[in-house]
Amino acid sequence: MSNRLTFLVALACTMLIWMVGCTPEAVKPLKRLPVLPDDAYDYATPPRESFFIPYGDSVINNDVATLGRVLFYDQQLSANHRTACGSCHKQQFGFADNSRFSVGYENQLTGRNTQTIVNTGTQLGFFWDLREAILDHMVLQPIANHIEMGLDDTLEMEGRIRNIQYYSPLFEKAFGTDEVTTQKIGVALAQYVKSIVSVSTKYDEGAVAVRNSGVTGNVNHVDFPNYTEQENFGKHVFFLKFACSQCHGGVNLDGSLSAPKNIGLEVDYVDNGMPGLDDFGRVRDGFFKTPSLRNIQFTAPYMHDGRFSRLEDVIEFYNSGIQPHPLLSEELRTREQGGLTFEHLGPVIPFDQVPTDGRVLPQRMYMTGEEKAAIVAFLKTLSDYETLTDPKFSDPFQVVE
Ligand code: HEC
Ligand code: HEC
Repeated sequence: MSNRLTFLVALACTMLIWMVGCTPEAVKPLKRLPVLPDDAYDYATPPRESFFIPYGDSVINNDVATLGRVLFYDQQLSANHRTACGSCHKQQFGFADNSRFSVGYENQLTGRNTQTIVNTGTQLGFFWDLREAILDHMVLQPIANHIEMGLDDTLEMEGRIRNIQYYSPLFEKAFGTDEVTTQKIGVALAQYVKSIVSVSTKYDEGAVAVRNSGVTGNVNHVDFPNYTEQENFGKHVFFLKFACSQCHGGVNLDGSLSAPKNIGLEVDYVDNGMPGLDDFGRVRDGFFKTPSLRNIQFTAPYMHDGRFSRLEDVIEFYNSGIQPHPLLSEELRTREQGGLTFEHLGPVIPFDQVPTDGRVLPQRMYMTGEEKAAIVAFLKTLSDYETLTDPKFSDPFQVVE
């Protein structure tokens, strides 16, 4: 009994010391303030010669993008003052997140894997289910989204920003007046997001070299002078054998040129993806945006639900794992069912054995080990170390006393 008493007294003392230790001075919150260069960074010019215009139709203003950068990394924009866009879209991971789902403002997980955000100015639709087409609108959605940032009252958001003193000069510089509006917050965030471009990969260098040597046709159909033999082989099979580029096309190797697709990850999708009807009037199921493959080496894990942690797993899925979902995209069916691989892969199915009762035959790619390794080597030529390390895209906030 007395032992127990001693213990309780000791415990009470410890707690008292702990509480006294926690005087207001001791827990004074550390302040984070943005530290910006005297002359704004150049967000309006691509870092090097490019074979396309990475900003799309947008003209970037350096002061507007600078404001956007501060907003992007500002934790004050979330309900609990602790989550920023940059908490999930991390520069060193190609502005994606390195975990399967990301942690939002109340420690809840996002329903989908965080997407990479480079060359968004050249893209036509956003989110895995393409539910938003205009970037200025969509950048405000995560702020209001209850899992991501949780600040759903735009007046409260405007009020908060108005009360933070470093914003007044930033709005003044960007828009000529320090008046804070939701629309301006959207424009600034969108300009900054669009300024995050990628034109400095080995792939871009090769494409520019081929263009400059006078080739006018599809640059993807000739070997690149700066590639290794393996990278060129990987590029060849990606574009001309397995038809990956039927969906991953254009300057970002994404779906900008095509509709959302069902690639047969499942027969029963847990996440049904884009709602509505497809081009044939069928209720869509498992239709997702074809993501850009830029910086794919760094944006693991992969797919809308982050189910694959390695590129090798993704390649093996396409090689042998495509499921016979009734809405499987035709590109990934056997050629006898309209598949679009450039070569006939695997045994030919006799005409009278091709099912016509709605049963789907997914393509098996019969990839060799060399082909799988070469595709991975090719995908790594899409890494842009400049975007991943450029200080103008980094978190400007520094802790001050
Ligand atoms: C808690 C993590 C989290 C935060 C915070 C967050 N995002 Fe995202 N972001 C995601 C996820 C997850 C997706 C995919 C959502 C979906 O498809 O439903 C996404 C998608 C996007 C996309 C679409 C990319 C594409 O290729 O379609 C853009 C652009 C984007 N976010 C910008 C922002 C901006 C700007 C902010 C800050 C205002 C922000 N995000 C805050 C996790 C986050
Ligand atoms: C029918 C169109 C289509 C074809 C053909 C296709 N893809 Fe995809 N790819 C997609 C879609 C759609 C997704 C996202 C699917 C999801 O998350 O549900 C995707 C996802 C990926 C991812 C993961 C991207 C990320 O950010 O998570 C990689 C890597 C990839 N594909 C590589 C390839 C390769 C290599 C080939 C050729 C062997 C190929 N794809 C063929 C449409 C296609």
